[in-house]
Amino acid sequence: MNKLRNLLFEPCISDVSYDFLEQSKLYSYQAKEYSERLHAVMSSEYFMRNISQHSYEMGFCEEFELLNTQELAPLAEALHQLNQLRISQRNYKSDEHISLQELSHFLQLSYSITQHYDPAMLIPPRRNIPSGGGLYPIDVYLINQHIEKLPIGIFLYDIFSFKLKLIHKFSSAEDLNQNLNKSLFTHQKNDIAYAHASAFIILGAELERSCFKYLNRGIRWAMIEAGEITQAMYLASASLELASCAIGGFDDESMARLIGYKHPSQVTLLALSLGKGI
Ligand SMILES: Cc1cc2nc3c(=O)[nH]c(=O)nc-3n(C[C@H](O)[C@H](O)[C@H](O)COP(=O)(O)O)c2cc1C
Repeated sequence: MNKLRNLLFEPCISDVSYDFLEQSKLYSYQAKEYSERLHAVMSSEYFMRNISQHSYEMGFCEEFELLNTQELAPLAEALHQLNQLRISQRNYKSDEHISLQELSHFLQLSYSITQHYDPAMLIPPRRNIPSGGGLYPIDVYLINQHIEKLPIGIFLYDIFSFKLKLIHKFSSAEDLNQNLNKSLFTHQKNDIAYAHASAFIILGAELERSCFKYLNRGIRWAMIEAGEITQAMYLASASLELASCAIGGFDDESMARLIGYKHPSQVTLLALSLGKGI
């Protein structure tokens, strides 16, 4: 693979790691076989029973009862309630969509700066999620489908200015529809009501941002961070009564073209659908 030189950092990701990233990609020609495999697992009583009961088998060992807290302090109680409400919601209202205000709250709650830069300290501004070395390799993109007051298009969420920066405007809803089908297989999969989602979030990693310091190990940190942001987005959705669902099945190359990645070190780690739940 042709490795373009990162203008900021020396390329530090090994060929073997690039091979792994390549192997983990999903291409449209594999999508049918891939979804058949998922379907085979999910429709098997044997697999589902074992999956639902699996845990690490310790054998005989000493056990200690954990204490059920009777009363939680208000903030802990709020988190407890959000945890109870967190759920992957795949069906969305077709006639009601999230507003720009709700989207702004969602982004503020799920991924934002919580402590501003102190030039004397030479440390990056703190965010609501932890990051290996404070390098924050994840870029958050939004694909707007139905949010009013925003064009139908792809945006980069600029966490510093709290603005959405338009990367690409689709010429029509049909144009968006075709692109979503190529990148998210929306016509081929029926796991999520894609057409009714107000928007999609794409978590893209710039791996060099992490790997220039941590070498190949930085790939792990980027993946972990995408998980953190995903969880924060789920909790933000629960708190705002919005509905969201992680989407792991997407065509990596189509998605990369759609968003306009410039380096092979930019990879999509996860997508999420967002809408008003039914
Ligand atoms: C990495 C990841 C990928 C996922 N991909 C999909 C997906 O492609 N389609 C889908 O319907 N759900 C997807 N999910 C949601 C899971 O199916 C869901 O979290 C799991 O079934 C547990 O349900 P819950 O989130 O409602 O507790 C994904 C979740 C994660 C964390």
